[in-house]
Amino acid sequence: MKKILFVASEAVPFIKTGGLADVVGSLPKCFPKEYYDVRVIIPKYSMIKEQYTHQMRYVANFYMDLNWRQQYVGIFEMEYDGIKFYFIDNEEHFSGSQPYAGMPGDLEKFAFFSKAALSILPVIDFRPDIIHCHDWQTGLIPVYLKERFQGSEFYRGIKSIMTIHNLKFQGVWDVKTIKAITGLPDSFFTPDKLEYKKDGDYLKGGLVYADAITTVSKTYAEEIKTPFYGEGLDGLMFARAQSLRGIVNGIDYDEYNPETDVHISHKYNAKNFRKEKIKNKVALQEELGLEVNPKALMIGIVSRLTDQKGLDLIAYMMDELCQDAIQLVVLGTGDPKYENMFRHFAWKYGSKVSANIYYSEAMSHKIYASADAFLMPSLFEPCGLSQLMSLRYGTVPIVRETGGLKDTVEAYNEYEGTGTGFSFLNYNAHEMLGTIRYAERIYYDKKREWNKIIDRGMAQDFSWYSSAVQYQELYDWLAQ
Ligand code: ADP
Ligand code: GLC
Repeated sequence: MKKILFVASEAVPFIKTGGLADVVGSLPKCFPKEYYDVRVIIPKYSMIKEQYTHQMRYVANFYMDLNWRQQYVGIFEMEYDGIKFYFIDNEEHFSGSQPYAGMPGDLEKFAFFSKAALSILPVIDFRPDIIHCHDWQTGLIPVYLKERFQGSEFYRGIKSIMTIHNLKFQGVWDVKTIKAITGLPDSFFTPDKLEYKKDGDYLKGGLVYADAITTVSKTYAEEIKTPFYGEGLDGLMFARAQSLRGIVNGIDYDEYNPETDVHISHKYNAKNFRKEKIKNKVALQEELGLEVNPKALMIGIVSRLTDQKGLDLIAYMMDELCQDAIQLVVLGTGDPKYENMFRHFAWKYGSKVSANIYYSEAMSHKIYASADAFLMPSLFEPCGLSQLMSLRYGTVPIVRETGGLKDTVEAYNEYEGTGTGFSFLNYNAHEMLGTIRYAERIYYDKKREWNKIIDRGMAQDFSWYSSAVQYQELYDWLAQ
């Protein structure tokens, strides 16, 4: 039996700001229980809903040295969907209204979390063969593990994996502050270790010290070796290319299933979507005050509203796009400039554009189920889960060919009758608009072809199955 420990800053259903939570909440369930004992550690944020905190069991507490003082570490545990979750409690760090509060506060929060995650292992009596770390918040774990903890018998030989979900965020701040917080001496802050352009960098530490590195699609694994996508770490990614692999994300096929989805008014499947899916669209048009017209091409967007997602291309083309026979339904929060942009166009084109500037699991499912197409013109996209959810719900993705979008959406080819969506290559607003208009033409003029695109999309398998097997191979190889 191999013991695997996931450590991350978010996991569904407890806390979610993006796709990281989906991955950490759904992947651990997908390993065969006879061979892998997979457990998960996340922070015990005070925003976690009572329905979950009520079920948590207190395990123990102790004090741990960090940043020149003794800090309280509480441990709670709970089993969810067959997986054991541990929650690290410390009100000072985890009581904000959001999991992330920005720098430099988050630096101490996640240094604390990383050191605590290692420190609780003897207390919970779980010695993992592998610690699987996710994103910059856990970047210090491989560092602490190799340089601090492996001196003691309990930790010796534990291997670590660093998975990059987004290279944009690295946890970078001045060396003096990071040294003080982490307790790591000068010798760690050299360009071959945690130093990044004279600053300290948590994720870089993780990428240097981890035994293996993965990221969430094959294309992104290649892209990050280049300056455009490398976020300053392309040299390191290139140097560690032998230890870096791309394993595409899956989604939870039980959670995202149009046949059983509790959030949608009309359930459907790959056989009856032609008749049933449209009923969801009408229900959503009514709910959001759009023109009720079952025929109108509805384009959905469910997204963090940040530069990553290509929203400046959309902003640039909104007026033109709204001259077409389309409806646009947006759900998202983030950068105020994009929130206000969508609010503005919803005001200007009230019957066509609906801007829902909030976070709602239920509304996201309704949009995946109701929209005809899903727009995701990302500047970069390590994997992207929304397009996978769209494919699962028979909603045709329109994407830019980057990262995981490129790997998971096959462009429609009308001559060969292949493809599951529409895509364009260059980060260019006119190219995007041209592609949307091509999709409009197929939708309005060649409905049978459009429906065949949906057939092919819904026949794809982006459950975790094959990706979990690739992680198993990596675990087995490392734990030999
Ligand atoms: P990222 O992790 O970069 O945000 P992904 O496509 O990997 O992008 O995952 C985004 C996840 O967050 C999806 O599950 C998507 O449905 C969800 N999501 C994003 N914004 C919202 C929102 N406002 N309300 C509900 N779910 C959202
Ligand atoms: C990040 C990426 C996204 C990916 C998700 C889960 O948030 O932006 O592309 O799907 O992590 O791996």
